[in-house]
Amino acid sequence: MKIRLGVVGTGSFSSDFIRLFKLHPDVEKVALADLDAAKLAASAEKHGITETYRSLDDMLQDGKDLNAIAIFTQRHLHGPMVLKALDAGKHVYSAVPIACTIEEIEAIINKVKETGLTYMMGETCYYYPSAIYCREQYQKGAFGKFVYGEAQYYHDISEMYKDFQRSGGAEWRRPAGIPPMFYPTHSISMLFSAIGEHATQVSCMGLRDDFHDDDIYGEGKNYWDNPFSNQTALFRMSGGGVARINEFRRVGINKPSSYITCLYGDLGAYECSITQHTFQRGAAAVERGLEEKPYVEYLDEVVNCEDYIADKKAGSIDWAHDPISVRYIRGFAPVHDKSRLPAVYRNNLSTNHFASHPFLVDDFVRAVVDGKLPPNNAWDAARYMIPGLVAHESSLQGGKLLDIPDFGDAPDTFEKLTYIKKDYYEQE
Ligand SMILES: NC(=O)c1ccc[n+]([C@@H]2O[C@H](COP(=O)([O-])OP(=O)(O)OC[C@H]3O[C@@H](n4cnc5c(N)ncnc54)[C@H](O)[C@@H]3O)[C@@H](O)[C@H]2O)c1
Repeated sequence: MKIRLGVVGTGSFSSDFIRLFKLHPDVEKVALADLDAAKLAASAEKHGITETYRSLDDMLQDGKDLNAIAIFTQRHLHGPMVLKALDAGKHVYSAVPIACTIEEIEAIINKVKETGLTYMMGETCYYYPSAIYCREQYQKGAFGKFVYGEAQYYHDISEMYKDFQRSGGAEWRRPAGIPPMFYPTHSISMLFSAIGEHATQVSCMGLRDDFHDDDIYGEGKNYWDNPFSNQTALFRMSGGGVARINEFRRVGINKPSSYITCLYGDLGAYECSITQHTFQRGAAAVERGLEEKPYVEYLDEVVNCEDYIADKKAGSIDWAHDPISVRYIRGFAPVHDKSRLPAVYRNNLSTNHFASHPFLVDDFVRAVVDGKLPPNNAWDAARYMIPGLVAHESSLQGGKLLDIPDFGDAPDTFEKLTYIKKDYYEQE
C-alpha cells in the first residue's frame, strides 16, 4: 500500500512537511488545499504539485483516490476537520492540537475505535532530544519513581503577531487570544510521555493580561473571552507525583521555548538550565547500592544538535546570542535514532523543531502502511490536550481543584507501532 495524501493548509508550517511527505518512499502523491488561492498557488509551485483544491470540503468531495489527509490549518479549527476527514474514510495526520473541546476529542477517539483508521497528532516536542532522553532513561528505570517535574512552552505573543495577521486579516486578534492552556501539548507531551502517566486533577492560575495594549486578551476580545496570557498548572499525576506546566504568551525570554526544566524521580534527576543539561543520582541511589557515590552526567553532547556540539568544540559559539537559540534547534542530536528513518531523510537537515519533522512523517506513514497504532495517537493526544482544557476552566474559577476526564489507553486490539528498529527501510 502507498499513501496518497491531501495536505490541507499551505501556510508557513506545512511547507517542510509537504517536502518530507513527497520524499518518503511510501508516499505515492501529495495534493494540496487552501482557502487562500495565492498561498495555494505559491505552495503548489514551490513543491511542484499540480493537484490542488480550494478547500478541505472540495478535497474530500473530488479527491476520491486520496487515502490520507494532513491538516495544517489554524490551531482552533482542527477538531471538526479531523472528524470530517475520518468520516470520509481517510487516515488523518493533524498539526497540534487535536481539538479544542472534550466532546470533539471523544468523537475522534470513538471514530478511530470504530473504523480502525489512523489518527496521529504531529507533536514535534515528542521528538525533542531532552524528551527522548528522559523517556528512554525513565523506561530503563534510571529515575526510579516519578515524584515531580516541570515543563513549559514559552512563546511570546509578539513573536506570533505576523502569523495570526497572515491568516486572520482584520480580525486576527480573535484567534490570537486563544487560552494558552488550549495549546498545551508541547509542554505536556514531553513530560507526560517521558513518565508514561496521565493527569488526574488540576489546579491552575492565570495571569490576567490587563497590562498590555495590544487588545488580544480580555473578555470580548477573542473567541473564548479569555483574559489570560499566561497560565501555570499543577497536575496530580496518575502515579501520585506532581507536574507543573507553564504555558506563557507574555514572557521576556527568547529561547528555548519548549523544554523539560526538571524531572525528578526518587532515584535520579534530569535538569536543564538553558545551556546545560544534566542527569544526576544522589544519596538514595548510593544507599540502594545503585551508585558508589553521587553521580552527575553532563548531557550537552547527547541532547543538543550536532551543529551546536561542533560549534562548541570549535569555540565558535556566540554565547550572548546563540545558546540553544533558534540556530541550535535545527538538525539532529546524538540521542535521535536516525537509522530508523528512510535514508533520504538522514542528511536532509533543513528542518526546524529539533529535526522532529522527519520522525513525525515517518511515524504516520509507517502506521498507515503497516496498519499499526502510532505514538501520539488519538488516546495519547487526548491525554496531552484534555488536562489543558480543564486547567483553563480551573483558572477561570480562581485555581479550583478539578478532576480531569480520561479516555484511557488505546484498546489492545490496536497493535502498537514497534518498528523503532535500525535500518527498517534497508531490510525491505
Ligand atoms: N511545533 C509545532 O508543532 C507547530 C509550529 C507551528 C505551527 N503549528 C501548527 O500548524 C498549524 C498551521 O500553522 P501555520 O502557521 O502554517 O498557519 P497559517 O494560518 O499560516 O495557515 C493555515 C492555512 O490553513 C488554511 N485553511 C483554513 N481553513 C481551511 C479549509 N477549510 N480548507 C483549506 N484550507 C484552510 C488557511 O487559509 C491558511 O492558509 C497550526 O495549527 C499551528 O498550531 C505547529
